[in-house]
Amino acid sequence: MSSTTAGPRLEVTDRPDIESRGWVLNGLAASNRAYVDEPGKRNLAVIIRDHGNGEILGGLLGWTSWEWLRIELLYVAPACRRTGWGTRLVQAAEAEALKRLCRSAWVDSYSFQAPGFYERLGYTIFGTLDDYPAGHRRYFLQRRLIANVEAPLSTNDRA
Ligand SMILES: CC(C)(COP(=O)(O)OP(=O)(O)OC[C@H]1O[C@@H](n2cnc3c(N)ncnc32)[C@H](O)[C@@H]1OP(=O)(O)O)[C@@H](O)C(=O)NCCC(=O)NCCS
Repeated sequence: MSSTTAGPRLEVTDRPDIESRGWVLNGLAASNRAYVDEPGKRNLAVIIRDHGNGEILGGLLGWTSWEWLRIELLYVAPACRRTGWGTRLVQAAEAEALKRLCRSAWVDSYSFQAPGFYERLGYTIFGTLDDYPAGHRRYFLQRRLIANVEAPLSTNDRA
């Protein structure tokens, strides 16, 4: 921090430079390390591909970290829907997550997307954002992938 008489100033931008972004990320990561291990983030993708021409017909994108599967994006081509492909994508991602020693999975889904689809697969809603976007709702859902063993909370987590 420079010692000008004006002191630090705020910059507001919609395009942070790489240095600023890296500074914040590195600082936060170092701060987190006092409490938890490295997240061990590893991307995970499951793609449906046509046997014949190799065309992509659907896919799930996400990652695993801190023993959780995060489903970020899920999309099945309209012509392939309601025949179990969405379910297969999620189940394949969960199976891979289990191999990576994950214990749970989480996902978010807008009210105009597929919260009911995830509920059918055993996910339960643990949070909602009302009116996001306006007139809709964003749901957050989770599912245990292995038998429920409650981990004791640390003192900091309980605060
Ligand atoms: C959501 C989506 C991936 C589901 O794929 P799909 O291949 O149709 O799913 P499945 O055939 O495996 O459906 C499994 C069950 O969920 C139901 N289901 C499917 N889509 C649903 C939805 N949007 N809402 C509620 N239930 C849904 C099916 O009817 C089926 O029920 P059943 O077992 O009682 O017959 C697909 O509809 C899609 O890509 N939608 C547009 C994008 C989107 O909303 N993605 C999710 C972002 S979080």
